[in-house]
Order: sequence, then structure tokens, then C-alpha cells
Amino acid sequence: MQTFSLAAEIIPTVNEPPCFLRPADRHAVAVLGTGRMGAAMARSLLRDGFRVTVWNRTRERAEALAADGARVADTPADALRGAQVVITTLSDGEATAGVVGGALDGLRSGAVWIQMATVGVYWTCRLGACADRHGVEFVDAPVSGSDGRAEQGTLLVLASGPDTARERVRPAFEALGRRTLWLGPAGRGTRLKLALVNWQLQLTQAMAESLDAMVDGPLLAPYATQKGRAMLDSEFLPGFALRDALKDAKLVLDAASCHGAELPQAEATAGRWEQAVNDGYGGQDVAAVVELAWPVDGRSQIALKLCNLQSANLQSDSRNAPPSGGSFPGPCRRWLVSE
Ligand SMILES: NC(=O)c1ccc[n+]([C@@H]2O[C@H](COP(=O)([O-])OP(=O)(O)OC[C@H]3O[C@@H](n4cnc5c(N)ncnc54)[C@H](OP(=O)(O)O)[C@@H]3O)[C@@H](O)[C@H]2O)c1
Repeated sequence: MQTFSLAAEIIPTVNEPPCFLRPADRHAVAVLGTGRMGAAMARSLLRDGFRVTVWNRTRERAEALAADGARVADTPADALRGAQVVITTLSDGEATAGVVGGALDGLRSGAVWIQMATVGVYWTCRLGACADRHGVEFVDAPVSGSDGRAEQGTLLVLASGPDTARERVRPAFEALGRRTLWLGPAGRGTRLKLALVNWQLQLTQAMAESLDAMVDGPLLAPYATQKGRAMLDSEFLPGFALRDALKDAKLVLDAASCHGAELPQAEATAGRWEQAVNDGYGGQDVAAVVELAWPVDGRSQIALKLCNLQSANLQSDSRNAPPSGGSFPGPCRRWLVSE
């Protein structure tokens, strides 16, 4: 079988030098799609001095941004009028095409479209072609990081597109991310994103099946630990919704099959998550996949074991005072009470 990497052909990383634009130089930015990621991105841009117009299918979600200084548009075409930079953060490629397709004609010349949702290789290609037909420069720039990072402006931006667009999108990327990787022609950002997605999804599923790994040790991974805590506490308020995670898992498999590659682990994960979505967990956080792996009782036994371990660590380390209210760390105490 051929050696395969979703991130294959990615060119070496280029670190951008800092940009020192005055607020008056900030672009007018339109954000289409103000879900969890889009709203957080819009707030970061506003905080950084951009003039931001927002549009969302469900208008109330966009209106919540008016208090932060955003103008709320009635239609996508209205949002694009006068914008120098357009950012899309809709759920998937089909929704993005439906929203943007009819509106691009209204864009001023020289404007750039930054596509930041996770839409996969096929849709990135189609959306790029649509931009070409309208004479709009297209930057494929999915992100790594949660809505919390988007709000703090600490995303990792995986940018790819024409060199001529780089200077114009740089201020927006600096507002949104702690780092931008420029990876070459459009499409490469999406390929690297899929490689990262595959790692992230496998990490989540592995954590759901081996909660014990949360105990401190050389195998600890911060992302998995964060999800593990949510799993133990059954806290599934969506940061990254399971239905989006399943969408991403399928994008990974599509990309792999185009290269004739086999990803059996990713296939198993996607099958498992499809079942979880069918069981009604799609709107919950991806951490909810633990529901298929462990009954709540089993999880509480693990949490109890962790509590005992952490408690023993606290007692053997005189530098650590026991947390107030008892000798068990907060998240564990809840499980002890429920035992
Ligand atoms: N959440 C994360 O941690 C994370 C991290 C990295 C990348 N991403 C990616 O970022 C994108 C957005 O994710 P999110 O978490 O912000 O999702 P979300 O909160 O569910 O928001 C989805 C957005 O898409 C809109 N939308 C969906 N279908 C539509 C349609 N047919 N027509 C028009 N608008 C439509 C929604 O509008 P309504 O409000 O009207 O439903 C909403 O604005 C996804 O591609 C996701 O994979 C997410």
C-alpha cells in the first residue's frame, strides 16, 4: 500500500512577521455565519478595531453581536456590500455555497474571500472555482482551535491561497490567531486541517475508551485530558458538536479514499459516531461519545479511582495544600457524592 499522509505536499512553514497597522487601516470585514466559531471570530475582529458586518440565517444569533459593535445585515449580499474581506464560517461546504454563491457579484473589486469553515477537499475546490468565476481572490484558511480560542484570538490559521492576497488578509489573521501557517496554493490548508482533524478525532475516541489515561504521566495530551474531564463529568454542552465531528470524520475518509488510502481506525470511529448521532447525541459536544463506550456507573468507578490517586498524590506532596472543602479535587468530589 502506498505511504499516505493527508498533509503530504505541504510546503515548509513560513512565520509571518508582526503587522503594525493603525486602526484606521483596518478593513471592513463581513462575517457570514455567526454560530459558535463565527460569533467568536467576529468579536475578536471587533476588539481589534475592524469594522464588522455580520449575517446569519437565524438572525437573533447575529443580533447578539450588535452590542459588541457589529452591523447586522439582512442578507448575505447586504453584508458583502463594501466589504474588503469576507469570512465564511458556516457548518459545511453545501451551506457555504448556498449562502455565498448568489452574493459574490456584489463584492467590490479587490475584495478577498477567506473560507474558514471545515469543508473538506471537494468543497474547497468547488468554492474556489466559484470565487474564480466571480473574479474574487479565494483564501482557504480552516482553523485549529475551539470557539474559546477564536474569542481570545489564539487560533492556529492554516492558510493557503494566492500570494497577492496575503497582505490583505494578514491583519484579520493576526486578530484571529496566535499563528498563521501559509502553506501554498488554496487547498493545502484544508488538507493539513484534515490531518489534524483525524488526529483530534482519534484522540477523542481513544480517551472515551481509556479514561484511566487521564492520570498524570508521559502520555498525557492536554486536548484529550480536557475532553476526558468532560466525559467523567458528563458535561456535553457543545464546544465542538458531535455532528460536526462526524462531518469532519467523513471529510477525512473522503480525502483518504481519493488517494487510495485506507484509514481503518478513522472508519471505525466514523461508524461509531454515526451511531451516536443516530442515538440523539449530535447536538452535544463530541465528548458525548463516551456514552457509547461506558455506562455512567463504570465511569464513576474510574473517577473514584482517579480521586483516590490524586488524593494520595496531594497527601504525599507537602507543597500541595489540600483543596478547600475536602481532600479531593473539585471535579472528583461530585462523583464521590454520587457514589
Ligand atoms: N466549534 C469548534 O470548536 C470548531 C473548531 C474548528 C472548526 N470548526 C468548524 O467551523 C465551522 C462552524 O462551526 P461552529 O462550531 O461555529 O458551528 P455552529 O455553531 O453549529 O454554527 C453553524 C453555522 O452555520 C449556519 N448554517 C448551517 N447550515 C446552514 C444553511 N443551510 N444555510 C445557512 N446557514 C447555515 C448556522 O446558522 P444558524 O445559526 O441559522 O443555524 C450557523 O451560523 C464548521 O465547519 C466546523 O467544523 C469548528
